[in-house]
Amino acid sequence: MKVTVVGAGAVGASCAEYIAIKNFASEVVILDIKEGFAEGKAMDLMQCASLNGFDTKITGVTNDYSQTANSDICVITSGIPRKPGMTREELIGINAGIVKNVSKSLLEHSPNMILIVVSNPMDTMTYLAHKSTGMPKNRIIGMGGALDSARFKYRLAEALGAPISDVDGMVVGGHSDTGMVPLTSHATRNSIKVSEFLSEERLAQVAEDTKVGGATLTKLLGTSAWYAPGAAVSGMVQAIACDTKKIFPCSTFLEGEYGLNDICIGVPVVLGKDGIEKIVDIPLSDAEKAHMKASAEGVAKTNGLLEL
Ligand SMILES: NC(=O)c1ccc[n+]([C@@H]2O[C@H](COP(=O)([O-])OP(=O)(O)OC[C@H]3O[C@@H](n4cnc5c(N)ncnc54)[C@H](O)[C@@H]3O)[C@@H](O)[C@H]2O)c1
Repeated sequence: MKVTVVGAGAVGASCAEYIAIKNFASEVVILDIKEGFAEGKAMDLMQCASLNGFDTKITGVTNDYSQTANSDICVITSGIPRKPGMTREELIGINAGIVKNVSKSLLEHSPNMILIVVSNPMDTMTYLAHKSTGMPKNRIIGMGGALDSARFKYRLAEALGAPISDVDGMVVGGHSDTGMVPLTSHATRNSIKVSEFLSEERLAQVAEDTKVGGATLTKLLGTSAWYAPGAAVSGMVQAIACDTKKIFPCSTFLEGEYGLNDICIGVPVVLGKDGIEKIVDIPLSDAEKAHMKASAEGVAKTNGLLEL
C-alpha cells in the first residue's frame, strides 16, 4: 500500500506521522514544492521508526511526481492555511490553482488512486478536483467532517463530564464556520441520547463551540491546527487501505442524496477499498434539514467563484 501526501507542512507531516505510527502502509511519499522541505520532514519522521515501532518507509521529494507513481491513495494538503480572523473561503484564490495542478499531476502518475482533498475551502476544492480530473466520484473524497465530528465529540464529552470513548456524534454539511451541521439529535452517550443529560441551551452551545472549533485554534496558534486534521486523514486512509467499511462524514459529490445535486458536501459515507462505497442517507430533524440546505447554498456560492 503506497500513500502519497502532497504538502509537507503542518497537516501533511502530521498526517504522514499518524499513518506511519499506525503501521498499515508499506510506503508514504511526501511531496512539497519547497526545496528540501519534504526530504527533511521524511528523514526526521524515519528517525522515529525505531522509537515508535513502525516499518513504513517514508520518503520526501521536491515536486518530483514520478516518485509518487502507482500510489493507491493520495492526499492533498498543499496550499495556504488561514490566519486568525480569516474564513476558509478567503483561501480560494491561491489554493484553487494549487489543488487543480496537484490533482492533475497526481493522476498522471497514479491513474487508479483514491484522492483525499484536505486543502481549504475543502468542499469547493473537492468539487474542483472532481470537475478538473473527471475521476469517478467514489474516488474523490473531501476531509472535513471526520475532523469536525472529533471536535464535536470533544465538546460533548466536556459538557457531559464523560470520557470521549463514551460519546458518539457526527457533523455533516459544509466544512465552514457557518456551514457545519452538528447532528445533536443523533448524538449519544453510550447509546443514550445526549438530550437526556444536557439542556437544549447547553447542546446549542456545544454545537456553536464545535462550529468555531477551527477558528478557536487558529486564534490560539496563529495558524490552523494540524494534529487532529492529520489524525482525521490517517483514519480515513486506514479505512480505505484496510477495507474496514467504517462510516465517516466526508465531502462527496451528490446526485440527489439529501435533496442536493452537483455539489460536494459532508454526508455520512462508508469507506473501503473502493473509496466511497456507499452514501448513507439518514433522517434529519426539520432544523437540521434547514441548516443543511443553507449550508449547501453557502458551498454553492463559493463554488461559483471557481474558474472551471
Ligand atoms: N479540511 C480540513 O479539515 C483542514 C484542516 C486543517 C487544515 N486544512 C487546510 O490544509 C492546508 C494545509 O494547511 P497546513 O497548516 O499544513 O499549511 P502549511 O503552510 O503548514 O503547509 C502547506 C504546505 O504546502 C506546500 N505547497 C504549497 N504549494 C504547493 C504545491 N503547488 N505543491 C506542493 N506543495 C505545495 C507548502 O510549501 C507548505 O509546505 C490549508 O489549506 C489548510 O486550510 C484543512
